[in-house]
Amino acid sequence: MANGILKGKKGIIFGALDEKSIAWKVAEKAVEEGAEIVLTNAPIALRMGTINQLAEKCNAKVIPADATNVEDLENLFKESMEIFGGKVDFVLHSIGMSPNVRKGRHYTDLDYNYFMKTLDVSALSFHKILQVAYKMDAISEWGSILGLSFIAAQRTFHAYGDMAEAKTVLESIARSFGYHFGKEKKVRVNTISQSPTLTTAGTGIYGFDKLYKFADAMAPLGNASAEDCANYCLMFFSDYAKMVTMQNLFHDGGFSNVGAVEAVADKL
Ligand SMILES: NC(=O)c1ccc[n+]([C@@H]2O[C@H](COP(=O)([O-])OP(=O)(O)OC[C@H]3O[C@@H](n4cnc5c(N)ncnc54)[C@H](O)[C@@H]3O)[C@@H](O)[C@H]2O)c1
Repeated sequence: MANGILKGKKGIIFGALDEKSIAWKVAEKAVEEGAEIVLTNAPIALRMGTINQLAEKCNAKVIPADATNVEDLENLFKESMEIFGGKVDFVLHSIGMSPNVRKGRHYTDLDYNYFMKTLDVSALSFHKILQVAYKMDAISEWGSILGLSFIAAQRTFHAYGDMAEAKTVLESIARSFGYHFGKEKKVRVNTISQSPTLTTAGTGIYGFDKLYKFADAMAPLGNASAEDCANYCLMFFSDYAKMVTMQNLFHDGGFSNVGAVEAVADKL
């Protein structure tokens, strides 16, 4: 049901690893809606994942960039602007990784080198992308930049580990940089707080299947899928959300505003 809401817009999409990735769905749908895109991921993910299939389908170039490396990001924006023949209209930051979570380190037994890596990959990379784009004046007026978050930024989820801190920082960066980007360049910066979703990053969390079922039972609309999330992202890239910036927007079927529900209470 494409409506051409991104006709003529050009965007960079970080984080499509395989067809389960939220970024993968965003890329497919953005192109269906008329956008021209560049895909990017860390060099190791390009070797492990299946991004080339997506690139072929979307008629997109793939430019490797480790999102924690400022030089890689400068090169990415430079090359993208050459491909587009001008500035970038939208950027999706769909990046998350915690070595502590991956290696099953409990929150009360974190490795601090890993913790720094979690913050760098999952949160500071957002600041680096914003700062590189800002300094290079790479984003069009009324452009839109999005990061993907999770409600563990506000509330405790026992198995989410140090990713909770990363998401809190991510959301704070959207507010702080959103102010400067908005004031100086009329560019929007927001985060979308998504339901648990069956992807590589999601299912890497200990007990994810139970978290997924719990959120699904709590949310009056149930969990939002990766496809639903992609549709919401497209709306934020479009001109329909022109005046929205510095926000964290829950995309979770209502989960974030629920207290108690029968489905869970009846099981006690
Ligand atoms: N899956 C969920 O339950 C869920 C829920 C809410 C928010 N999110 C967020 O959505 C985003 C996308 O995750 P996903 O669920 O699609 O999983 P995914 O595993 O498909 O995507 C994560 C991506 O991050 C990339 N990445 C890791 N380190 C990188 C680096 N140094 N440089 C560049 N890219 C790097 C990976 O290669 C991968 O493509 C993440 O921010 C995640 O935290 C996911």
